[in-house]
Amino acid sequence: NPSPSTHTQASSVSSSLGSRQACELESKRPETMDLVNGALNWAAMPAMVASLLLFYPPYYLFKLCYSFLSYLFPDDLKRKVVLITGASSGIGEQLAYQYATKGACLALLARREWSLRQVADRAFELGAPDVIILPGDVADPDDCNRFVQATIDHYGRCKPVPVTANLV
Ligand SMILES: NC(=O)c1ccc[n+]([C@@H]2O[C@H](COP(=O)([O-])OP(=O)(O)OC[C@H]3O[C@@H](n4cnc5c(N)ncnc54)[C@H](OP(=O)(O)O)[C@@H]3O)[C@@H](O)[C@H]2O)c1
Repeated sequence: NPSPSTHTQASSVSSSLGSRQACELESKRPETMDLVNGALNWAAMPAMVASLLLFYPPYYLFKLCYSFLSYLFPDDLKRKVVLITGASSGIGEQLAYQYATKGACLALLARREWSLRQVADRAFELGAPDVIILPGDVADPDDCNRFVQATIDHYGRCKPVPVTANLV
């Protein structure tokens, strides 16, 4: 059996070995970091240029083809029925004007009738062939049914494009 003094000697030897290894590691760490930094500096720029050369031409070609096709076949919203909630102000109002310039027929919904009338007048000026206003509250299920029914009754179509401009 090893005596307690042998244990103490062994542990002091191992601890001095451990601290020496730690010192060696410490002295090696800056060298390793320098190597990593150097490699990154050397590789980062060519990698960036290579990825740009690889991905940008196909992306640019895709964009070019897409805009050419959009020019040849523009979205045809002429006489499509667009039903817009929250159309008396803000996002809904601006959407109404955008669809009006594309020749869509509009059904405008909100609670304030007077504001809806103003939006409808401007939409006519911008090119909407037909605009109806539907004052009411979208929080009321009866009003919602009435909006859809009135749109179908007026335009004779049962598939309006619903555009929701407000979160209810
Ligand atoms: N503007 C932004 O930058 C932005 C950004 C992120 C999210 N949003 C969200 O987008 C939504 C619209 O924004 P906005 O700036 O266009 O707001 P807004 O100008 O206040 O317009 C809200 C529209 O919803 C109508 N409305 C509200 N409650 C209604 C109800 N119970 N029944 C029927 N119509 C109702 C209002 O008309 P009446 O009062 O006449 O009913 C109005 O036309 C909001 O929910 C907002 O939180 C906006």
